[in-house]
Amino acid sequence: MKLCTALDLPTFEENIALAKELKTFDIWLKVGFRSYIRDGKSILHELKNINPNFKIFLDLKLYDIPNTMADAAEEIAGLGVDMFNVHASSGEKAMHTVMERIGGLPKRPIVLAVTALTSFDNESFRKIYGEDIDNKAITFAKDAYKSGIDGVVCSAHESALIKSHTAKKFLTLTPGIRPFGEAAGDQKRVADIAMAKEELVDFIVVGRPIYKAENPKSVVEKILSEL
Ligand code: C5P
Repeated sequence: MKLCTALDLPTFEENIALAKELKTFDIWLKVGFRSYIRDGKSILHELKNINPNFKIFLDLKLYDIPNTMADAAEEIAGLGVDMFNVHASSGEKAMHTVMERIGGLPKRPIVLAVTALTSFDNESFRKIYGEDIDNKAITFAKDAYKSGIDGVVCSAHESALIKSHTAKKFLTLTPGIRPFGEAAGDQKRVADIAMAKEELVDFIVVGRPIYKAENPKSVVEKILSEL
């Protein structure tokens, strides 16, 4: 299991300072909407300058028509990031088109599909998708698997079940991790490290419990010692 730290701080400087503080660790860094929209390619370059071995997950959750998604995926692959994601609800055709487009590249990033955002509870999810979260997450994961996607973003609660319906090697990445029972914030389906392990999760994403801590480095150290 790998740790992926979310760089969701308000400024470029704060994100870079956090990355510098964590530069000795073998971790993934997640660059999301906030920093990518504001800082663009410069944050990616700067992170690789700090430690070329940092792995970067560009969390932009693509959702559009198939051709537009494939165009975006090709551009993302050109950025040299190690992983990015799309929404599984964009459909099999869109996911397949993305994988077909970047599949021929000499080196392509890992591609994940978001099943259900971890901020949904069952009721709010049903309002939009008309089905229970657990069932629909499995359907989305199967669609993604059939489309050639490498894995899914899901809650830790569904990871093992998704693998049993797809393949053991089908990756799961789970946000909403509160490693040692920290405050959930807006996340609804949270899990701690013990549960993530039980659920065979491949990547845990941890944001606020690290970057809001007084000593982020010691939190990361503690998490890594448990993985
Ligand atoms: O601060 P926290 O640990 O809740 O951060 C979780 C991170 O994972 C945020 O950057 C959020 O955008 C992202 N994420 C999520 N749920 C998803 C996909 C991504 O919380 N399904």
